[in-house]
Amino acid sequence: MMTMIPILETPLGRLYEADCVTVMKSLETETVDLAFADPPFNLGKEYTSGINDDLSEDRYLDWCQAWLLEMVRVLKPGGSLFLWNLPKWNLPLGSMLREHLTFRHWITVDIKYSLPIPQRLYPSNYSLLYFVKGARPAIFHPDRIPTPCCRHCGGELRDYGGYKSKMNPLGVNLSDVWTDIPPVRHAKYKRRGANALALKLMDRVVSMASDPGSLVLDPFGGSGTTYAAAELTGRRWIGSELDCSAIVERFDRLEDDRSHLKEIHQNKNTLFTETDLARRRKSGKPLPKEYRIPQPTAADCGCSSLDDQSDFFAAG
Ligand SMILES: C[S@@+](CC[C@H](N)C(=O)[O-])C[C@H]1O[C@@H](n2cnc3c(N)ncnc32)[C@H](O)[C@@H]1O
Repeated sequence: MMTMIPILETPLGRLYEADCVTVMKSLETETVDLAFADPPFNLGKEYTSGINDDLSEDRYLDWCQAWLLEMVRVLKPGGSLFLWNLPKWNLPLGSMLREHLTFRHWITVDIKYSLPIPQRLYPSNYSLLYFVKGARPAIFHPDRIPTPCCRHCGGELRDYGGYKSKMNPLGVNLSDVWTDIPPVRHAKYKRRGANALALKLMDRVVSMASDPGSLVLDPFGGSGTTYAAAELTGRRWIGSELDCSAIVERFDRLEDDRSHLKEIHQNKNTLFTETDLARRRKSGKPLPKEYRIPQPTAADCGCSSLDDQSDFFAAG
């Protein structure tokens, strides 16, 4: 194994400015708990790293196979591999991965990614393939998510009828269709071109398939979203990228990601977000008591006294 010098080292991670296959070849077999990849999609985009993103289909798939096999090799038994790509590419790549790993899920992530194309359906989903090495994952704790509510009044979009008391106060089960991943548009969080993934997406993947102290690998660093999610949640990480400038800059200002992640964490593993509860309060829509949501203290809800909340948590 050759020794490589990282361009960035943190208490938990190492980033190499080098080709991902070379970097992965320097890693020991079966040492990684979670491997995630978001490669270029071969759409003819310009990357600051100057890669050719316009290969023939066969060459693109051969290239993908070369780094995927390295990801498979370094994955521990029970480790998880996630592959983010267009459905067009994840179809053949998933079929190839099935020869080495166990298929768990094809997660559909609802994000519009281009303009409508004449004579075609409007492309509006990315594919996130989820495989494990061996029969089952060693680590699996999916987030629970809030129930969808009206952006204006905070009322539930789904009617749970008489089942409200059966709802888990920690939120609804995560499904394999994710409709709550925002495009990265906000100037504060947009690190570079259109390629950065949302921190919310990477936090979800990292917390589902790794624990603090686990080792996370992402061969295609881009703006470093995976590494930020790993670093801020106590995972060890290894990354590679041909042009690491955006990642180095991001880690210089990691406090921005820390505060963004705090917001993300406040809005998961809860049946109603604070924002939706505030909207309900404003629009006078009391939250039915059957939901078994723990009552906030006066300090939590900014009320001057606990009596002020009686309207908010109405009797059934
Ligand atoms: C789609 S972007 C990844 C974006 C990343 N997930 C994020 O959230 O910022 C793909 C990245 O792979 C990098 N890349 C392409 N070929 C590579 C290679 N052979 N080794 C390492 N990185 C490579 C490109 O420079 C590009 O930044």
